[in-house]
Amino acid sequence: MEHKDYDIVKKRLFAGLMFTALVGVLFTLVFLLPHYSTTGFNSGAAWAKESSTAESEPLIIVSMKTTMYEYVADDEDIDKMAHWIKEGSKNDTFFRNEIFPMMKNDCTSCHNTSSTMTDAAPEIPLSRYEDLKKYTSADS
Ligand code: HEC
Repeated sequence: MEHKDYDIVKKRLFAGLMFTALVGVLFTLVFLLPHYSTTGFNSGAAWAKESSTAESEPLIIVSMKTTMYEYVADDEDIDKMAHWIKEGSKNDTFFRNEIFPMMKNDCTSCHNTSSTMTDAAPEIPLSRYEDLKKYTSADS
């Protein structure tokens, strides 16, 4: 008799243990899986956001490296732009001799309020110093 009672206790203990384990697995599924699936779906955007805020690069530099890279004539142009911004993006001789001609050759065919290009972005004009200046701060 005593032996049987002991068996029941063991069985109940085991059942309790299994129940705890099951709850654990359910919690894992409910809390961890949505986390992984959302970070999975957005991983590209999340990465882009993190990396651009981490380096806090101005939008003009970010776009010259990514979305607008195909229009950048020379990798050195990105360095020139970065240099100009680092020096305070002033309306100086460096702007007039280096930056302005670069914009004119590579960018303002589309980035001009009166652009007639099919893929144009007239809402983002880059043809004047004042226009370009807006995209040179780190939080732009
Ligand atoms: C063939 C037309 C075209 C040329 C050339 C072009 N862009 Fe763009 N650009 C666009 C369009 C369209 C958008 C807006 C839609 C988009 O983001 O794709 C844009 C968006 C941008 C933006 C906003 C942020 C972003 O990345 O979307 C910046 C900054 C920019 N361009 C900079 C430049 C610079 C600098 C150059 C020259 C090296 C350049 N673009 C050349 C068409 C052009």
